[in-house]
Amino acid sequence: MSVVLHLSDTHFGTEQPAVVEALVAMAARQRPDLVILSGDITQRARPAQFRAAKAFVDRLGAPVLAIPGNHDIALFDLWARIVRPYAGFCAVFGADLAPVHVSPDLFVVGVNTTRARRHKHGEVSPSQMERVARLLATASDRQLRMVVAHHPAAVPRADERANQLRGHAAATRLWAAAGADLVLGGHIHLPFVLPLDGLARRLWVVQAGTAVSTRTRPGVPNSVNLLRWGEAADAGDDPALTGPRPGLRCRIERWDFGSSEQAFRPASGTSIRPERATGPSSENTHSFIAKNDHFTLG
Ligand SMILES: [Fe+2]
Ligand SMILES: [Fe+2]
Repeated sequence: MSVVLHLSDTHFGTEQPAVVEALVAMAARQRPDLVILSGDITQRARPAQFRAAKAFVDRLGAPVLAIPGNHDIALFDLWARIVRPYAGFCAVFGADLAPVHVSPDLFVVGVNTTRARRHKHGEVSPSQMERVARLLATASDRQLRMVVAHHPAAVPRADERANQLRGHAAATRLWAAAGADLVLGGHIHLPFVLPLDGLARRLWVVQAGTAVSTRTRPGVPNSVNLLRWGEAADAGDDPALTGPRPGLRCRIERWDFGSSEQAFRPASGTSIRPERATGPSSENTHSFIAKNDHFTLG
């Protein structure tokens, strides 16, 4: 079984030290194979904020796939914003703004949805959509296929539509047909899992909240996602992942920071069976909601 820790919107510069330490402790226990950081890594794209973020991810004990968010572009320094908007990000996380991670179990494609001219809103261009689709077409059935964007490819309610990724309809249509299982994102600091139907195959949009920053919404604590991908036989006591049908399953867990225990704890989960040509369909989706849950969709 492979474990992926999905973090977003760390907003270093507004990070909470106790939450940072709790997340490091959680990672030490869960031992992810990969950490995905889906943008807004810093609050103001300052070099010291990027350095603090890098020092943090270096403590998580796994390779990191990071993409920029709108906050990772210089805001007030207009010269930097026009001439070298990603200089701070690249200095710390490398020059690749759309990295790819491939392992026997995982196939992850990053896409840079930020635009320096627009600053806040994100979009995906036709050439970006096609690049992702071309890469996805090379993935195997064994691999969990994920696209990572900063801006949400879907939103759970109408008042969030202004924040939705421009180009989302064409992108999800193309990426589903190319074999994507999940589209990961952040930006709105609202965690949810949303299945998208009406495509060539079912796709799930998986959003993470703000991992460690003070920029939480009312009633929505700091949170991260933990994805477990593997055969049913490795699924432990999860009733949605065990059972008579063999095949690969993905359990998507949301872990919330609890201020009383000063630790991240499981809050909700969704177990899915991505479609495979030779395996079972995605009809069996199972969710649980932990006690004292604040906000759950999917
Ligand atoms: Fe953010
Ligand atoms: Fe953002």
